[in-house]
Amino acid sequence: MALLSIVKAPDPILKKKCYRVDTVDDDIRRLMDDMLETMYAAPGIGLAAPQVAVHRRVIVIDVSPTGERDPLCLANPELLDVSDESNLHEEGCLSFPDQYAEVVRPERIRVRFLDYHNEIREIEAGGLLATCIQHEMDHLDGILFVDHISMLKRSMILRKMTKQKKAGAPAGA
Ligand code: NI
Repeated sequence: MALLSIVKAPDPILKKKCYRVDTVDDDIRRLMDDMLETMYAAPGIGLAAPQVAVHRRVIVIDVSPTGERDPLCLANPELLDVSDESNLHEEGCLSFPDQYAEVVRPERIRVRFLDYHNEIREIEAGGLLATCIQHEMDHLDGILFVDHISMLKRSMILRKMTKQKKAGAPAGA
C-alpha cells in the first residue's frame, strides 16, 4: 500500500467529472487500498478518487469510532432513493484542511455500488454514514461541500484556502 498525496482546493482537478469503473479488478483494488491508507493517515472518514488525482468513480469511507476499522469501498455508487427528511451536519473535507461548514442533505439514502470484490451491493444508510457517502459521491461529479453553502461563506473559505496554498507552496513551485 502507498500513501497518496491529497489534492487541496482550489484546484481544477477537484472540479472534473469522474469516469465509471468497468470492473473492480486488482488495479482498482490497489487504488482502494491506497486511498484507505491515505484516508486513515490523514486522518479522515472519507476520500474520493479525484482527491488523489484519479478520475474514476471510486470512494472509500470509514465512519467507525476511532481505533476501530470498518472500511467501505464503493465503485460507481448510485443513489436509488433519498428521504424527504433532511439533516444538518458540520462537514469538513481533506481537500480543505481546517475548514468546516454546516451542510443540509437528505437524512437517509439507499445506494447501489460495486464493492471491493466486484459484487453489486445495495445498502441503506442514515446519520453520519449517509452524509459521508453523499459528500464523497459529490466529489465524483466535481461538486465540493462548499458548493452547498452560501456564496459569502464559500468565498471566505476559498480565500483562506488560496492563502494557505500560497504560504505552503515550495519556493519556485
Ligand atoms: Ni471531501
